[in-house]
Amino acid sequence: MVKEELLKLLEESRGEILSGNDLKDTLGVSRNAVWKAIQLLKEEGHHIDSVKNKGYTLLKESDVLSVGGLMQALGAQPSYHVEVLKEVPSTNTYLKESDSKKNNALVFAKKQTKGRGRLGRSFFSEDLGGLYFSLLKKEDLARYSPSYATIACALSVRDALSEISGLPLSIKWVNDIYYEGKKLAGILTEGTLEMETGTLSSLILGIGINVNTKGFPQELEDIATSLFMETGRTYVRQDVAKNVLSHLEKNLLLTKENPVELLSAYKKHLLYLGEEITFLYNTQLRTGILTDLTPEGHLLVESEGSLITLHSGEISIRKGEQK
Ligand code: BTN
Repeated sequence: MVKEELLKLLEESRGEILSGNDLKDTLGVSRNAVWKAIQLLKEEGHHIDSVKNKGYTLLKESDVLSVGGLMQALGAQPSYHVEVLKEVPSTNTYLKESDSKKNNALVFAKKQTKGRGRLGRSFFSEDLGGLYFSLLKKEDLARYSPSYATIACALSVRDALSEISGLPLSIKWVNDIYYEGKKLAGILTEGTLEMETGTLSSLILGIGINVNTKGFPQELEDIATSLFMETGRTYVRQDVAKNVLSHLEKNLLLTKENPVELLSAYKKHLLYLGEEITFLYNTQLRTGILTDLTPEGHLLVESEGSLITLHSGEISIRKGEQK
């Protein structure tokens, strides 16, 4: 389709002016067809400037999620099967409920109506500049150690976002990315088991990042933030996804090859280390000092004179004493 081909050419030369004549020749269509395709791309939200007597340019900050743009950004990375959905309840659920999805299926949603987080919580997923996607791994799972998958994912998101924004970000055990007390991103990893053998048959890595979000509903105002709100800059989400995925592929391999290295990198950014935290233990709200991360990726907490290991996926922690 002319529109997709045209977008590819514009993406390849982002920020540069491409002449209408060259475009029509390369695409083998009329000038009018190029003009029409440009209008369609503009309607989809792409920021394209028409420069009189010169041609067209896709602005550097233009940020629309599209299959073409993502494929271009992801380049030589593993053969992802990219889908971009306008709206879906949850990209994790979408992958979980479909048997026909291939290994490396990579699903993005502009909006999720039932974005899910850990502990049955919801994740704010309006079409307001956030990046919501899930990656399916169902082949060669023996290369990964699933118990470290969330840790690998959280570290990848942290490192990628820190690199892109320059912000010193932290990880709130086990799966949240924080900046100055506010949540910037969350991760939900889910697996399916082969019941007969008890082996893992698929791994779904779901990532939600507040990228260009300019504000949150009142109930989230004090606890959520975005890259835009912290830096005043707009980010191209396909580039953010590319950066996260390249860290993720590397870190997923580390789960098996070198979990010690993975955990040590994770621990460097662990929030509340050495500080007092509140946590739920045997249905009791307790306080203690977050002392260490165990080699298994669990938390070691000193509370009322004893050391407690927090390893349940059902535990949430927060800073300080419960009032
Ligand atoms: C959390 O807050 O505990 C984790 C949030 C994870 C959100 C992402 S967005 C893409 C994927 N789809 C979902 O429903 N959840 C994850």
